[in-house]
Amino acid sequence: MPDRPFTAPLIGPPLNRLDGHAKVTGSARYATDQVFENLAHGVFVESSITAGRIRSIDIAPAQAVAGVLAILTHENAPRLQQVGQQGQSGRPGQSHMVLQDERIFHAGQYVALVLAESIDVAEYAATLIRVAYQPEVHQVLFEDHLDQAYEAPRIPLIGTPPVTSERGDPDTIYGRAPVRLDLTYRTPVQHHVPLEAHGTTAVWNGDEVTIHDSTQHVYGVRSVVAKYLGIPEDNVRAISTFTGGAFGSKGSSWPHITFAAVAARQVGRPVRIWLSRRQSFVGAGHRAPTLQQIRIGADRDGRLLSLVHEATAHTSPYDEFCDAIAVTTRTLYSCPNLRTAHRLVKVNINTPTAMRAPGEAPGLFALESAMDELAHAVDLDPLELRLRNYAKTDEDEGKAYTSKALLACYGAAAERFGWSARPRQPRSLRDSRWLIGQGMASAVYPGKQSPASARVRLLPDGRAEVASATHELGTGGWTAMTMIAAETLGLPVDKVTFRYGDTHLPNAPVSAGSQSVACVGSAIKLAADKALAQVIALAVADPSSSLYQADPATVEVRGADLIARGSTQKEAWPVILTRLGSRGAIEGVEANATYQPPKPDERPNSAHAFGAHFCEVRVAEDTGEVQVSRWTAGFGCGRIINAKTAHSQLIGAIVWGIGMALHEETSLDPHLGRFMNRDLAEYLVPVSADIPLIDAFFVEEDGPAVDPIGAKNVGEIGICGAAAAIANAVYHATGKRVRDLPIRIESILG
Ligand code: MOS
Repeated sequence: MPDRPFTAPLIGPPLNRLDGHAKVTGSARYATDQVFENLAHGVFVESSITAGRIRSIDIAPAQAVAGVLAILTHENAPRLQQVGQQGQSGRPGQSHMVLQDERIFHAGQYVALVLAESIDVAEYAATLIRVAYQPEVHQVLFEDHLDQAYEAPRIPLIGTPPVTSERGDPDTIYGRAPVRLDLTYRTPVQHHVPLEAHGTTAVWNGDEVTIHDSTQHVYGVRSVVAKYLGIPEDNVRAISTFTGGAFGSKGSSWPHITFAAVAARQVGRPVRIWLSRRQSFVGAGHRAPTLQQIRIGADRDGRLLSLVHEATAHTSPYDEFCDAIAVTTRTLYSCPNLRTAHRLVKVNINTPTAMRAPGEAPGLFALESAMDELAHAVDLDPLELRLRNYAKTDEDEGKAYTSKALLACYGAAAERFGWSARPRQPRSLRDSRWLIGQGMASAVYPGKQSPASARVRLLPDGRAEVASATHELGTGGWTAMTMIAAETLGLPVDKVTFRYGDTHLPNAPVSAGSQSVACVGSAIKLAADKALAQVIALAVADPSSSLYQADPATVEVRGADLIARGSTQKEAWPVILTRLGSRGAIEGVEANATYQPPKPDERPNSAHAFGAHFCEVRVAEDTGEVQVSRWTAGFGCGRIINAKTAHSQLIGAIVWGIGMALHEETSLDPHLGRFMNRDLAEYLVPVSADIPLIDAFFVEEDGPAVDPIGAKNVGEIGICGAAAAIANAVYHATGKRVRDLPIRIESILG
């Protein structure tokens, strides 16, 4: 069989999600819905100090409660192996494992785990544990300690871009530039707050443990738990049936996952640990706050001469987690002189982690706000400014882009929005007490990729079983993978069964970085092609087949038909398998394949998704209330497998961007050293009344293949630049530039 391209339409059909029925009827079982006899429940006790040591811990009153099975503390918990921050595959989330010693690094750190017959008994007993502490001085606001800032050693995310970059001579050129801007932006701590809180159930059978976890990475869970316990990976099975939102917080294996296994072994029963909503604010990462300085040197026509983007963020006392905050600044615009840098300050807070468009979202808030400020400084339309600085190639990697539909995104979205009618001057649109403003921003997201494997089994009855240990996070992954297999095999979707979320299936990477469709989908395509090649080999050797004695190298696949080029020989693969199956010759064919993406520096091209946001806000002149009233955004993301679920990803991402701009912030009390708003009453997220009709669309995009199926990435691109579009629209409405997120009433009235 000759190598063949993936021929699905560039924008695929809109298919309803295959998990939809199970979810709306409640039959979908999540990790903490799995039913086990004799299930025990674990509840963590949190530290009430922010830094210091445990002097003593009194568990006797809690132990006396009827139904309490065991209480683990640093004094009696099994000693676990050291894992470090970054495992070989899969991240532990933080290098500090709890209940191993008396040190306290942050408020809310777990100091005991109560195991009981019911969650109510465990929660009650947890309140009876008395801990005496030796407190030490803590620091939680990184901006108060910028003298301690140091260059981040690395960016531990998919693709691992360099921490710093420099081209040309940005400082000298900045000093000579006719137009100079030196601007400082801030973004706060944010939390992922997935609707399904973090939860794990661990069940031992002999010396093997099965972990049902709400995760983005079953193979990561397997690896991390095996390492901490010091047992072979084969003795750990991780299963994720559904994950009810994750956003990066379930990409790592946080301490509660390992401790579910530890506790289950301790009490000799299945154990479930379900973090409370409050606990998920200290037990599963957060987005680090940022302080970003942008210096732009430009000519009077708005062309960038020099661009410097330096970001500082916080990290925990024991880890060096750094988002790729300034990385997309290296590639979005053409600029010969550029520097980016990332610095960290250690604070007494648990380790931050990736959160939807980690780095890109806060970084593009700063860059795209600064570009708007430049447009006003040189009196240019903000879209015209972007066009003048359009990057034809990736000047960071020094390569052509695989495809870049940004001009089409600008054009189509501006047209649909009616951007050309926008008056340039701020405060020039009004509807009685409402000031109206329109803002725009560019979006860019790197085409992250990791190796992925898949298995395809073709059955004589014309069905296919496809498997890869990827995940269904609520994004439509299951549906997209099924569609990719169906397309490759020439089958209707209902003839394909896709299994996922289990380390007994072929390895798949963390479902993060918007990479799953491109990587896992490519592995499925490769495995399906291999399986078809096996059928061809069977057919050309089968005297009953029309393809008998055809040269396999000439046999092409069209739909489910196998056709020998230049002849009339042709047979559909289900027909071939049915015949061979009825003779008892075979039970089907099976093929495994691994998609191995090229390393970023070995790729011939640079792969990024692009887009453009245009939005309108209404700002009440008297109260400062901000309403987002219109949104149009276009994106070029390579091949789109499922028009419906991909569109939903864009909508969800833009809603997330609106929350980032106007609502979300986890506040820190510097005196107590704690997060103050640890629930959905006080951690604000947008509600329906905050969201206008969102007109989001894909432009058709083709180009040299990034991967065997030509997909790039969809999930996170919609967040990128969205908060800046709102801040820019607020400026246009009010003349007030807000450089600190979230935009509050007091930032507008103050
Ligand atoms: Mo996402 S932060 O790549 O899960």
